[in-house]
Amino acid sequence: MNVNEICDSVVYVGVNDRVTTKFESMWPLPYGVSYNSYYVKGSEATALIDTVEIAELPAFLDHLHEQGVEHIDYLIINHMEPDHSGSISAIMREYPGIKIVGNRTTIAMIGGFYHITDPTCFQEVKDGDKISLGDLTLSFHLITMVHWPETMATYLEERQLLFSGDAFGAFGALNGGVVDSQMECDWYFPEMERYYTNIVGKYGRFVQRALKKLEGLKLSYICPTHGPVWHDRIQEVVNVYDRLSRYEATDGATIVYGSMYGHTAAAADKLARELCERGVRTIKIHNAAVSNLSDMIADAFRYKILVVASPTYSATLFPAVEQFLRAIETRELQGRIFATIGNHTWAGVVEKEMKAFLERSKNTSLGHVEIKQSLSADTDARLKELARKLVAEC
Ligand code: FEO
Repeated sequence: MNVNEICDSVVYVGVNDRVTTKFESMWPLPYGVSYNSYYVKGSEATALIDTVEIAELPAFLDHLHEQGVEHIDYLIINHMEPDHSGSISAIMREYPGIKIVGNRTTIAMIGGFYHITDPTCFQEVKDGDKISLGDLTLSFHLITMVHWPETMATYLEERQLLFSGDAFGAFGALNGGVVDSQMECDWYFPEMERYYTNIVGKYGRFVQRALKKLEGLKLSYICPTHGPVWHDRIQEVVNVYDRLSRYEATDGATIVYGSMYGHTAAAADKLARELCERGVRTIKIHNAAVSNLSDMIADAFRYKILVVASPTYSATLFPAVEQFLRAIETRELQGRIFATIGNHTWAGVVEKEMKAFLERSKNTSLGHVEIKQSLSADTDARLKELARKLVAEC
């Protein structure tokens, strides 16, 4: 079996990156990441779907040569983020005469990023256009803002195969297999949630629009730009993207806190105990100064209850908590069963700052418990009551 062969006429030529430690210089890659590219061989013409991050060019060219690719007619650019477009110039040098296929926005971006402006290099396509490779047909479907404005998906009609760009992608390198049916894939699902919430999470309504637009296509294979090719588990993967882009959460609680001397941390623990006593079985507690922002965002998307606790710091929020709030505001996280905890020694500003955040983010809070310096019988009782309210709302 040739594990690179996805189906008749379609071969995987992408690469693994186990060197980069932070995707987009921000998001941890504990299991690496793949930059996926695919070669399609029709009876009369051939196409390459996307390229790879420029640092991985040698491996990319090796993979093309190993597959005996000597000539390519079309380079289809579904997405211009440089982890996929980075090798465009090198591919043009390696395969002279290759025609770049993209929409108008794509072509403008190629000029900006790579200074390729000669119109004879391009074939512009619009939503719904098709290109024939002889016995195979590629059709193009704009999925704007999944993840950039130019993004499109390419459908190989005769194989019911969708080259989906970032949509349905996941962190995690490909460790041997390429298609889900070739390997154990459970571990990719939390990495898919982290990938979606960190990278694409802001664009939930655009993902919803794309899902509706693509639902008429019969799908035997989804070939994203990151992570496994989906064949056996297509419906599960579509469900993950559908759930997350609707901001729908599962049972459980996320508590994010900042704490300098342990008192706000003690409040977070106290609340977690109270939630557990009331039957909440999945509780993730993050010290915002220690946990990675990536994991905190993913958990905030995953679980119904979200509680944020902060001490006053320089007359505002604790910086790491503020960064977390900014991240979920940017991603328009909504619909959480939300509450806040503040702690101060002489200036109680947390409730006011949290209210301002809630107004900007259009979320509502079930309550705020303010602590002065350390927990007391009174704040214990108020945390207990807050837990009762949070669980009652689930
Ligand atoms: Fe993997 Fe939006 O690029």
